[in-house]
Amino acid sequence: MKKYAIMTMKGGTGKTTTAVNLAHGLALSGKKVLLIDCDPQRNAAITFGNEGKRGLSSLLRTGDVDILQVRDNLFLIDSGGADLVEVELLLGKERDREKRMVKALSNLKGSDYVICDCPPSLNLININILAFSDEIVIPLSLDYLSQAGASQTIGMIKEVKWLISKKTINFTILPTFFDSRTNISKLVLEDIRTRFPEGVFNTVIRVNTALREAPGSNETIYEHAPLSRGAFDYYRLTEEILNI
Ligand SMILES: Nc1ncnc2c1ncn2[C@@H]1O[C@H](COP(=O)(O)OP(=O)(O)OP(=O)(O)O)[C@@H](O)[C@H]1O
Ligand SMILES: [Mg+2]
Repeated sequence: MKKYAIMTMKGGTGKTTTAVNLAHGLALSGKKVLLIDCDPQRNAAITFGNEGKRGLSSLLRTGDVDILQVRDNLFLIDSGGADLVEVELLLGKERDREKRMVKALSNLKGSDYVICDCPPSLNLININILAFSDEIVIPLSLDYLSQAGASQTIGMIKEVKWLISKKTINFTILPTFFDSRTNISKLVLEDIRTRFPEGVFNTVIRVNTALREAPGSNETIYEHAPLSRGAFDYYRLTEEILNI
């Protein structure tokens, strides 16, 4: 079972879009995939138009969870919405608070891939997700402010590694919102490839309106616009991850 978190501290960099379309891409390739919405905003769950009564917050509170089948090979755990915020506050008072998710998810077997869609913050939920995951995908929208979010995330990965003395948590940056008409996209892309020579996906996700539209019809990009640039780019990312 490969455990991926799609995480960065900055909001709106394409985390949910990546989690949803990577998860469905892997499922379409025949892998069994569990997508966990870890964000109280519930954007991944909303994309599929589903609402599990017992989501991640319930799993962390009581161990009970609804796993919803949303497509062939693709399963979803809702976040639980605002209840997840309350659970996070309660966790803060407990011992082993950074390992609660590892414990809660230890019985969930049988998936080839687990993909966590993370909230944009430096919070205990994200620390728990880091403790649980082996691989972190850091979506970086190609502008200057987004680089700070990526650096903060990398700093947090290193701290959590130390905190839970975990062997490895690998991270790879995924450039998103590439716009060939702007210089800034090219400059930031060059800069991150120089700074992290091994740590950037070959795949670059381009700006594509179809990606913005797809959740409105409760569809992934492969369903909404299978011939779009967005579908092509996420298909390429899926292949790159399948080959890791
Ligand atoms: N490559 C893209 N081209 C155009 N629009 C995109 C692209 N990727 C994502 N979007 C749109 O940009 C917005 C933000 O994307 P998304 O919700 O995936 O970001 P996020 O990082 O999950 O945000 P948050 O931090 O709030 O969770 C959404 O409206 C989404 O549809
Ligand atoms: Mg999101």
